Amino acid sequence: MISFSARHTPLSGIKTDVVALFIPQDKKLLKDQMVILEQLSPGITDAVASSAFHGKNKDTLTLFPARTPFRRVVLIGLGVPGELTPETLRRAAAACVKVVNGLKSKSLAILQPAMKHITPESSANALAEGILLSSYRFDKYLTVDKERQTLRTVNFICAQQAGVSEAGKGLHLAEIACAGTNLARDLANAPANEIYPESLTRRAQAAGRHSGFTVKVLNENRIRSLGMGGLTGVSLGSNRPPRFNIMEYGPRRSKVPTVVLVGKGVTFDSGGISIKPAAGMGEMKMDMSGAAAVIGTMAVAAQLGLPVHLIGLVPATENMLGGSAMKPGDIITHLNGKTSEVDNTDAEGRLILADALSYATRYKPDLVIDLATLTGACVVALGSVASGMMGTAQERMDQLKAAGERTFERVWQLPLFEEYEQQIKSDVADVKNVGGRWAGAITAGLFLKKFIGDYPWIHLDIAGPAIMEEEREYTPKGGSGVGVRLLVDFLRHWKDN
Ligand code: BES
Ligand code: ZN
Ligand code: ZN
Repeated sequence: MISFSARHTPLSGIKTDVVALFIPQDKKLLKDQMVILEQLSPGITDAVASSAFHGKNKDTLTLFPARTPFRRVVLIGLGVPGELTPETLRRAAAACVKVVNGLKSKSLAILQPAMKHITPESSANALAEGILLSSYRFDKYLTVDKERQTLRTVNFICAQQAGVSEAGKGLHLAEIACAGTNLARDLANAPANEIYPESLTRRAQAAGRHSGFTVKVLNENRIRSLGMGGLTGVSLGSNRPPRFNIMEYGPRRSKVPTVVLVGKGVTFDSGGISIKPAAGMGEMKMDMSGAAAVIGTMAVAAQLGLPVHLIGLVPATENMLGGSAMKPGDIITHLNGKTSEVDNTDAEGRLILADALSYATRYKPDLVIDLATLTGACVVALGSVASGMMGTAQERMDQLKAAGERTFERVWQLPLFEEYEQQIKSDVADVKNVGGRWAGAITAGLFLKKFIGDYPWIHLDIAGPAIMEEEREYTPKGGSGVGVRLLVDFLRHWKDN
């Protein structure tokens, strides 16, 4: 746990191991920032001037000033001032954390960067996000060689008293949103012998108790008797029973929008009878990343008290092989009565989402957003840089795209042109669960569209960004927790026209 505070105090009175300055690539700005330090440690400006540090993006410089109350000063470059965004700060903060941990330091004081178009709230928020997200490790199963992270407290030093409460707000928001993201990461990274449908339910219940949302659970019999043929069918090959989780937060029947989030909760995807190749199959423990994002978002929304009636639906199952497993050619009847032909048991996500999207109708929602690690095709199209976005609610999609730019959990829209529909036509059922080689992310989206109710809908295929194959600036390898900050930002900026 890293704790944060904001204050306006002279640097000379601060007890900290490290002082960090975030500096744009600009000689004058560098000099301005150094003025306070120069007073405490005369000659330090010259030391910087004669170094190779010019504030270039990703540059860092560690100084060991004499006779100051702090042992180290770290300068972190931000690059060209005109190109500065909150994302620059997240990445720079992550670089700073690396240096601080390298110095084995516990406490850090950050001087508020002087920036024209970024408010103290926003800069404090972005820096705290970079710190909290980059400090995450999934190391609970490591009994030896645990990487030691020393950073514990961060003090955000504001240039003016007036900025303190604003900065404090930014820090508070970052703490809650990043806790939600890191919860989603924990759920995704946990192996399938830890997270299976029943234990995922327990984790959602624990999050609900902690954050303030309710969890109602439908068991195997209820799922079957209600007619959720997709969730039932996919679960047949597994010894572990499925669960349908219904999370709810917020005021009913008051003047706030009702938003339903649906998350794919396949706790392990072997492919079923249409089995996947062995190489990389272990990654499919993260096939519940959509569910993880929904649980994380519920937690954040409840903790922030967002003015929204939020429902989270998580159909959870394993996709396994066995004597009673679903077979290619099987025909399933979904909750809304429509039938689908299972041409490939590895296209299981859409089968369980179909039931959940039908279930969502009963809430008469203003918007339904589903998140799913749905197709490898979407990873081929967009890599891990952006999630595929499809849907029927263009204005909401534009707003979600804007939230994606702000949070840097970016989304990119793909078309649901009706021409693609013929690829999922079936001779024997209303729809077929695979659409051939081309436009696989889109035919998956069109499959889902057949099961939506009379509500605006957005589908996010997060298969790429949810699973980090390599570490990024503030995203360690593994589950990224993508979706939580995106949805929270989107809901915070919700507006009705
Ligand atoms: N869970 C996978 C999709 C996936 C692939 C997620 C890679 C994350 C990384 C999904 O259930 C799946 O297997 N989809 C198939 C669909 C195909 C059979 C039409 C795929 O993408 O290959
Ligand atoms: Zn699959
Ligand atoms: Zn899957």
